[in-house]
Amino acid sequence: MDLENTIQERASVSAEPKKVFVRTYGCQMNVYDSQRMSDALAAEGYVASDTAEDADLVLLNTCHIRAKAAEKVYSELGRLRKLKDERAAAGKEMLIGVAGCVAQAEGGEIIRRAGAVDLVIGPQTYHRLPDAIRRVRGGEKVVETDYAVEDKFDHLPAAKPSVVRGRGVTAFLTVQEGCDKFCTFCVVPYTRGSETSRPVAQIAAEAENLARAGVRELTLLGQNVNAWHGEGPDGSEWGLGRLLFRLAEIPGIERLRYTTSHPRDMDDELIAAHRDLDRLMPYLHLPVQAGSDRILKAMNRRHTVDDYRRLVDRIRSARPDIAMSGDFIVGFPGETEADFAETLKIVRDIGYAQAFSFKYSPRPGTPGAELDDQVPEPVKDRRLQELQALLTSQQKAFAAGLVGSGMAVLLEKEGRHEGQLVGRSPWLQPVIVEDAAGRIGDIIRVRVTHANANSLSAEAA
Ligand code: 5AD
Ligand code: SF4
Repeated sequence: MDLENTIQERASVSAEPKKVFVRTYGCQMNVYDSQRMSDALAAEGYVASDTAEDADLVLLNTCHIRAKAAEKVYSELGRLRKLKDERAAAGKEMLIGVAGCVAQAEGGEIIRRAGAVDLVIGPQTYHRLPDAIRRVRGGEKVVETDYAVEDKFDHLPAAKPSVVRGRGVTAFLTVQEGCDKFCTFCVVPYTRGSETSRPVAQIAAEAENLARAGVRELTLLGQNVNAWHGEGPDGSEWGLGRLLFRLAEIPGIERLRYTTSHPRDMDDELIAAHRDLDRLMPYLHLPVQAGSDRILKAMNRRHTVDDYRRLVDRIRSARPDIAMSGDFIVGFPGETEADFAETLKIVRDIGYAQAFSFKYSPRPGTPGAELDDQVPEPVKDRRLQELQALLTSQQKAFAAGLVGSGMAVLLEKEGRHEGQLVGRSPWLQPVIVEDAAGRIGDIIRVRVTHANANSLSAEAA
């Protein structure tokens, strides 16, 4: 009798699907990639798990942009090694995979440093993930970081409406990957490779699937998204502006955004899209990084502060209500107090609704890391504090300026309290709507009643 029970138990255990836990670090493209990896694994019978503790496979999708981001991976791997040992003691398996930009940058070195890791897979080879896992199961340690000749997007399972449904009414869609700009501080050209654009038909098909699954707002992603180009159905060369017009025709897609842009790739057609396309939201993430021409040159940004100013003027005349967002680096090698003062000046002159600012982090293999004149840490700290104080005050002023006005909000999820729904403003702020007459996925008119630290409160108008 005992034996019978055991056999039955075994049968039910082996019939249980394997669980995968994916932890995502870094940018929105990693969020998108993690979903595509989960989709690829779902096709192999894996179900998603919310915790590492009960997962048969743990994937860390990592970020290499600054030292801090990369270091997080190794502390997490230390924690996972213990979990793996505990599971092994209980007769259970736990495979550990490292994906993303740390995987690409460090390759097999990760396994030498963290022996519990079974698989290292770079962003260009995610379509090989199911096969790599099979090899790991066969007892191999697998490192997949070669740039694949085949197009990964051709081989990753499509975002089927049935799979995507339930993930929400907003979605990311990668249209471009990699970068050829080689800013001297940045690892992206090395970890994500050279600039590639996905074809129009592939993007449109994925957008249509997302729309059918209930997505109302699409954010097009690329490290240099506005460098996207492709051949349109008419045989002519399209830029991102044309693509946005095409996607705006898809029934159900009510809102479009794109990120991240380089100032050099904002062409006339894209600016015209901001003027003519209502569905393109009036919000633009356009990093300038620094406010001094000398530093911009050392960064190899290939534009001046004045180029940037004039560009923002043109964008604002095309779309007067556009809100600007940006990235800033303080303490790039050689940055003097006078250079830093110019960064504060461009921030004051432009006025940002939202911004991200960082201390320069020397990254191995980038030209910036080799420069003399590295700025001492305490100086970077002070500059960052000063810059962030200014940016925070601008962000608050922007939100405060919306109080009392009406706006359209896309309802995204339930709020914390009964009757509340949380949505998103055209300018990407979370909006808490009291007694919202509408359902998730609806776009409703509201009146802003209050600006909170990181959100707006509103009532249905
Ligand atoms: N140090 C600090 N910040 C960096 N960024 C990119 N590389 C570095 C670095 N080495 C910032 C830039 C970029 C954003 C994604 O991260 O501002 O726009
Ligand atoms: Fe990095 Fe952006 Fe410069 Fe490319 S354009 S090197 S992704 S900062």
